[in-house]
Amino acid sequence: MVKVLMVCLGNICRSPLAEGILRKKLEEHGIEDNVIVDSAGTSNYHVGECPDTRSMRNALSHGVDISRLKARQFSVDDFDEFDHIYAMDTSNYGNVLMLARNERDKRKVQMILDVLYPGTNMSVPDPYFGGEQGFENVYVMLDKACDVIATMLKERYVV
Ligand code: 4NP
Repeated sequence: MVKVLMVCLGNICRSPLAEGILRKKLEEHGIEDNVIVDSAGTSNYHVGECPDTRSMRNALSHGVDISRLKARQFSVDDFDEFDHIYAMDTSNYGNVLMLARNERDKRKVQMILDVLYPGTNMSVPDPYFGGEQGFENVYVMLDKACDVIATMLKERYVV
Protein backbone atom coordinates (compact mmCIF):
# COMPACT_ATOMS: atom_id res chain seq x y z
CA MET A 1 0.00 0.00 0.00
CA VAL A 2 1.32 3.43 -0.96
CA LYS A 3 0.14 6.56 0.82
CA VAL A 4 -0.24 10.02 -0.67
CA LEU A 5 -0.92 13.28 1.19
CA MET A 6 -2.14 16.53 -0.41
CA VAL A 7 -1.24 19.70 1.51
CA CYS A 8 -2.44 23.32 1.32
CA LEU A 9 -2.90 26.10 3.88
CA GLY A 10 -6.43 25.59 5.23
CA ASN A 11 -7.27 22.06 4.01
CA ILE A 12 -10.67 23.35 2.90
CA CYS A 13 -10.14 24.51 -0.72
CA ARG A 14 -7.26 23.05 -2.76
CA SER A 15 -6.04 19.94 -0.95
CA PRO A 16 -9.52 18.40 -0.43
CA LEU A 17 -10.11 18.91 -4.17
CA ALA A 18 -6.78 17.25 -4.93
CA GLU A 19 -7.69 14.37 -2.61
CA GLY A 20 -11.07 13.85 -4.28
CA ILE A 21 -9.69 14.16 -7.79
CA LEU A 22 -6.85 11.71 -7.15
CA ARG A 23 -9.34 9.18 -5.70
CA LYS A 24 -11.37 9.45 -8.88
CA LYS A 25 -8.25 8.96 -11.02
CA LEU A 26 -7.23 5.91 -8.98
CA GLU A 27 -10.65 4.37 -9.67
CA GLU A 28 -10.30 5.14 -13.36
CA HIS A 29 -6.91 3.39 -13.33
CA GLY A 30 -8.33 0.49 -11.27
CA ILE A 31 -5.79 1.00 -8.48
CA GLU A 32 -8.00 2.47 -5.73
CA ASP A 33 -7.29 -0.52 -3.47
CA ASN A 34 -3.53 0.03 -3.75
CA VAL A 35 -3.33 3.67 -2.69
CA ILE A 36 -4.45 5.62 0.38
CA VAL A 37 -5.09 9.34 -0.18
CA ASP A 38 -5.47 11.99 2.50
CA SER A 39 -5.09 15.77 2.80
CA ALA A 40 -4.04 18.27 5.45
CA GLY A 41 -3.42 21.99 5.97
CA THR A 42 -0.26 23.62 7.27
CA SER A 43 -2.46 25.93 9.40
CA ASN A 44 -4.98 25.08 12.10
CA TYR A 45 -7.46 27.74 10.87
CA HIS A 46 -10.22 25.37 9.79
CA VAL A 47 -9.53 22.14 11.70
CA GLY A 48 -12.65 19.94 11.87
CA GLU A 49 -14.51 21.86 9.16
CA CYS A 50 -15.96 20.52 5.91
CA PRO A 51 -14.40 21.72 2.67
CA ASP A 52 -15.32 25.23 1.50
CA THR A 53 -18.81 25.25 -0.09
CA ARG A 54 -17.31 26.49 -3.37
CA SER A 55 -14.85 23.56 -3.43
CA MET A 56 -17.59 21.05 -2.68
CA ARG A 57 -19.84 22.55 -5.37
CA ASN A 58 -17.06 22.62 -7.94
CA ALA A 59 -16.02 19.04 -7.20
CA LEU A 60 -19.62 17.84 -7.46
CA SER A 61 -19.99 19.53 -10.86
CA HIS A 62 -17.20 17.16 -11.98
CA GLY A 63 -18.73 14.11 -10.31
CA VAL A 64 -16.45 14.23 -7.26
CA ASP A 65 -18.00 14.18 -3.78
CA ILE A 66 -15.72 15.70 -1.13
CA SER A 67 -18.50 16.62 1.31
CA ARG A 68 -17.51 14.09 3.95
CA LEU A 69 -13.91 15.29 4.32
CA LYS A 70 -12.83 17.12 7.49
CA ALA A 71 -9.93 19.55 7.71
CA ARG A 72 -6.92 18.63 9.82
CA GLN A 73 -3.49 20.14 10.38
CA PHE A 74 -0.31 18.65 8.93
CA SER A 75 1.92 17.16 11.61
CA VAL A 76 5.45 15.79 11.68
CA ASP A 77 4.01 12.27 12.09
CA ASP A 78 2.74 12.57 8.52
CA PHE A 79 6.32 12.08 7.34
CA ASP A 80 6.21 8.58 8.86
CA GLU A 81 2.73 7.83 7.56
CA PHE A 82 3.00 8.99 3.93
CA ASP A 83 5.25 8.12 0.98
CA HIS A 84 4.44 11.13 -1.21
CA ILE A 85 3.50 14.59 0.08
CA TYR A 86 2.29 17.10 -2.51
CA ALA A 87 2.27 20.81 -1.62
CA MET A 88 -0.08 23.17 -3.47
CA ASP A 89 2.09 26.30 -3.28
CA THR A 90 5.57 27.48 -2.39
CA SER A 91 4.45 28.64 1.05
CA ASN A 92 2.93 25.25 1.94
CA TYR A 93 6.07 23.61 0.53
CA GLY A 94 8.36 25.71 2.72
CA ASN A 95 6.23 25.16 5.82
CA VAL A 96 6.18 21.38 5.36
CA LEU A 97 9.94 21.26 4.68
CA MET A 98 10.58 23.26 7.86
CA LEU A 99 9.10 20.35 9.82
CA ALA A 100 11.21 17.72 8.02
CA ARG A 101 13.60 15.93 10.39
CA ASN A 102 15.99 14.49 7.83
CA GLU A 103 16.71 14.04 4.12
CA ARG A 104 14.33 11.09 3.92
CA ASP A 105 11.43 13.30 5.06
CA LYS A 106 12.46 16.04 2.60
CA ARG A 107 12.57 13.66 -0.36
CA LYS A 108 8.89 12.86 0.12
CA VAL A 109 7.80 16.46 -0.46
CA GLN A 110 7.12 17.85 -3.91
CA MET A 111 5.28 20.80 -5.44
CA ILE A 112 2.23 19.19 -7.04
CA LEU A 113 2.49 21.09 -10.34
CA ASP A 114 6.09 19.91 -10.70
CA VAL A 115 4.65 16.57 -11.83
CA LEU A 116 3.45 18.48 -14.92
CA TYR A 117 6.19 21.09 -15.21
CA PRO A 118 9.29 19.63 -13.53
CA GLY A 119 11.57 22.04 -11.73
CA THR A 120 9.36 25.11 -12.21
CA ASN A 121 7.97 25.39 -8.65
CA MET A 122 4.63 26.65 -9.96
CA SER A 123 1.91 27.16 -7.36
CA VAL A 124 -1.76 26.21 -7.47
CA PRO A 125 -3.24 29.67 -6.78
CA ASP A 126 -5.16 30.08 -3.53
CA PRO A 127 -8.83 30.48 -4.57
CA TYR A 128 -10.12 31.34 -1.07
CA PHE A 129 -10.51 35.09 -1.56
CA GLY A 130 -11.83 34.90 -5.12
CA GLY A 131 -14.92 33.69 -6.95
CA GLU A 132 -16.13 30.42 -8.45
CA GLN A 133 -13.88 30.69 -11.52
CA GLY A 134 -10.82 30.43 -9.29
CA PHE A 135 -12.04 27.06 -8.07
CA GLU A 136 -12.62 25.84 -11.61
CA ASN A 137 -9.07 26.95 -12.56
CA VAL A 138 -7.75 24.99 -9.59
CA TYR A 139 -9.79 21.95 -10.60
CA VAL A 140 -8.37 21.97 -14.13
CA MET A 141 -4.78 22.17 -12.86
CA LEU A 142 -5.28 19.46 -10.25
CA ASP A 143 -7.08 17.20 -12.70
CA LYS A 144 -4.02 17.23 -14.99
CA ALA A 145 -1.58 16.77 -12.12
CA CYS A 146 -3.56 13.91 -10.57
CA ASP A 147 -3.65 12.10 -13.92
CA VAL A 148 0.15 12.12 -13.94
CA ILE A 149 0.33 11.08 -10.28
CA ALA A 150 -2.09 8.16 -10.80
CA THR A 151 -0.06 6.95 -13.79
CA MET A 152 3.19 7.24 -11.81
CA LEU A 153 1.68 5.34 -8.85
CA LYS A 154 0.45 2.55 -11.11
CA GLU A 155 3.82 2.19 -12.84
CA ARG A 156 5.84 2.37 -9.64
CA TYR A 157 3.74 0.47 -7.11
CA VAL A 158 1.29 -1.76 -8.97
CA VAL A 159 2.66 -4.52 -11.16
P1 4NP B 1 -6.72 26.34 1.04
O1 4NP B 1 -7.40 27.79 0.98
O2 4NP B 1 -5.35 26.51 1.62
O3 4NP B 1 -6.68 25.93 -0.39
O4 4NP B 1 -7.62 25.47 1.88
C1 4NP B 1 -7.46 28.66 2.08
C2 4NP B 1 -8.35 28.43 3.09
C3 4NP B 1 -8.42 29.31 4.15
C4 4NP B 1 -7.60 30.42 4.19
C5 4NP B 1 -6.70 30.64 3.17
C6 4NP B 1 -6.62 29.75 2.11
N1 4NP B 1 -7.70 31.33 5.26
O5 4NP B 1 -6.98 32.34 5.26
O6 4NP B 1 -8.49 31.10 6.21
